[in-house]
Amino acid sequence: MRIVLVGPPGAGKGTQATRLAEKLRIPHISTGDLFRANISRQTELGKLAKSYMDAGNLVPDEVTIAMAKDRMEQPDAEGGFLLDGFPRNVSQAEALDELLETEGIELDAVLDLEAPEDEVVKRIAGRRICRKDSSHVFHVTYSPSKQEGVCDVCGGELYQRDDDSEETVRTRLEVYHTQTEPIIDYYKAQGLVVTIAATGPVDEVTGRALEALKRDK
Ligand code: AP5
Ligand code: ZN
Repeated sequence: MRIVLVGPPGAGKGTQATRLAEKLRIPHISTGDLFRANISRQTELGKLAKSYMDAGNLVPDEVTIAMAKDRMEQPDAEGGFLLDGFPRNVSQAEALDELLETEGIELDAVLDLEAPEDEVVKRIAGRRICRKDSSHVFHVTYSPSKQEGVCDVCGGELYQRDDDSEETVRTRLEVYHTQTEPIIDYYKAQGLVVTIAATGPVDEVTGRALEALKRDK
């Protein structure tokens, strides 16, 4: 399956993507994680991306599209993928369509995760991620690690993302409403959007997502 996940910051895209990717046996491709990996390796791309991410703005399309394309062309993504955080505006969605058309493939669904703003703000405020692998995600109250500050999966140190400050979160939400939400209409016109409530226990949300994707098939 080829799926795009969309939803505001803190909706649980990363959390759900990890689970869905495992169940559906497709790679989880997160542009946010790819940028964070570049930042920790201190690459040129990482240095460029950090300035935009810390401010809560989108990294320029040209570098983002090139990075996403490169990842989607890796052999493990041949049979399908779950995109998390890409596309994030209409021009990225158009670039993705072009890429898929060139390859002669199509998206199966765009899964839209809905969560109220006060909930996403609480989720982001308590989020802790792993220094070794930013797909290892915890929450101080909702899903705490067994030992405070230590990742259950790999023992890495847990920290709060630089872009999770209250001020940056406000900008990220604004950017989501103005730049990312329009892609939902873009994909509705293609009949691809399935919307689910992303509230309640994590497992329930995963169940709802799998049901919705099945129904859509
Ligand atoms: P990115 O990393 O994609 O961040 P985001 O979209 O802001 O989303 P988040 O990672 O904040 O939230 P999430 O929905 O994944 O929630 P999570 O599962 O962690 O992007 C970061 C930046 O990179 C962007 O601002 C931009 O600068 C740049 N960027 C990335 N892609 C780009 C692109 N395509 N173009 C340009 N720039 C790009 O969950 C949040 C918390 O809630 C966790 O603590 C989790 O444990 C908890 N939680 C999750 N589900 C539940 C639940 N059901 N109940 C209770 N708690 C829950
Ligand atoms: Zn870890």
